[in-house]
Amino acid sequence: MGNVEVYYFSGTGNSLTLARLVAQRLGGELIPIASVIDREKIELTADVIGIVFPVYYAATPNIVRRFAEKLETTEGKYIFAISNYGGGAGDSLKTLGRIFEARGKALSAGFGVHMPQNAFHKPWEMKSLAYRQAPKRIDFIVRAVEVRRTGLFYSNVLVQALMAPFQGWLRRMTALYLEKASNTPSPSGLTAEQLMPLADRSFAVDENCTGCGTCARVCAVGNIEIVDKRPIWQNHCENCLACFNWCPTDAIRGALANTGYRYHHPDVTVRDIARQSEPQT
Ligand SMILES: Cc1cc2nc3c(=O)[nH]c(=O)nc-3n(C[C@H](O)[C@H](O)[C@H](O)COP(=O)(O)O)c2cc1C
Ligand code: SF4
Ligand code: SF4
Repeated sequence: MGNVEVYYFSGTGNSLTLARLVAQRLGGELIPIASVIDREKIELTADVIGIVFPVYYAATPNIVRRFAEKLETTEGKYIFAISNYGGGAGDSLKTLGRIFEARGKALSAGFGVHMPQNAFHKPWEMKSLAYRQAPKRIDFIVRAVEVRRTGLFYSNVLVQALMAPFQGWLRRMTALYLEKASNTPSPSGLTAEQLMPLADRSFAVDENCTGCGTCARVCAVGNIEIVDKRPIWQNHCENCLACFNWCPTDAIRGALANTGYRYHHPDVTVRDIARQSEPQT
């Protein structure tokens, strides 16, 4: 198999759980994307590289785009991505592939995995089914990686095909939504990617905030400072909703966080998420 590195980004633990599973099965090293993202260039040393991330707004998270843009020494390596989502992969895997292509590199394979939704409540969602199916999907992915299969492998091909013509429209709707979430006057002329870091402008805490600092610990990109026992968001948000979902007193409100629905993967802890931004040992 050669040596393997599995990079991941995760707000509420779904991506981390999948990354753990695949790294365990392939005998690979698990590396948080947030721990390397500030480097000017990211040098890859392993023969097989995995990239595991959630879908945001039917697309690739900004941090994963920046990560792909910084990758060096990809020649001769097998690089696969695992995109996971509560509904569908949207354009996330194709976008990642295009970033590689634009730099004369190649994403070897992309896999979609259905997981529970972490951003809004789907009353019909069967979380236990998603948890049971995830290891089976990882079995498929591991076999595909072992034989170096190439191409895109979605978990729900029909949804993918039906949504494909709407990707451009979805990007425009996302930009409009994020203009509102970031209190940016419309039309701003800014793209969804440019507006996402500012979406935390709508975050605020209510009287339940105890100043415990958990939100700052779980923010993988250091976007929260605790000042006078209250979180202050720094406008370089990845929209992962870790702060909102892991707050022990449900004190965070805002456009991205007014759903009344809170989620995290049952096998993942605050400590696991906080590790993404800590020095790696
Ligand atoms: C800001 C935001 C936007 C999202 N957009 C989508 C989406 O467009 N389609 C989808 O299927 N899931 C979407 N999701 C759900 C996540 O992709 C999904 O729950 C993922 O498994 C979360 O991974 P994590 O636990 O590693 O953070 C979104 C989540 C967030 C926080
Ligand atoms: S995690 Fe919640 S209670 Fe703790 S400081 Fe942040 S907002 Fe306040
Ligand atoms: S501020 Fe909250 S939503 Fe934004 S990146 Fe940090 S944890 Fe994620």
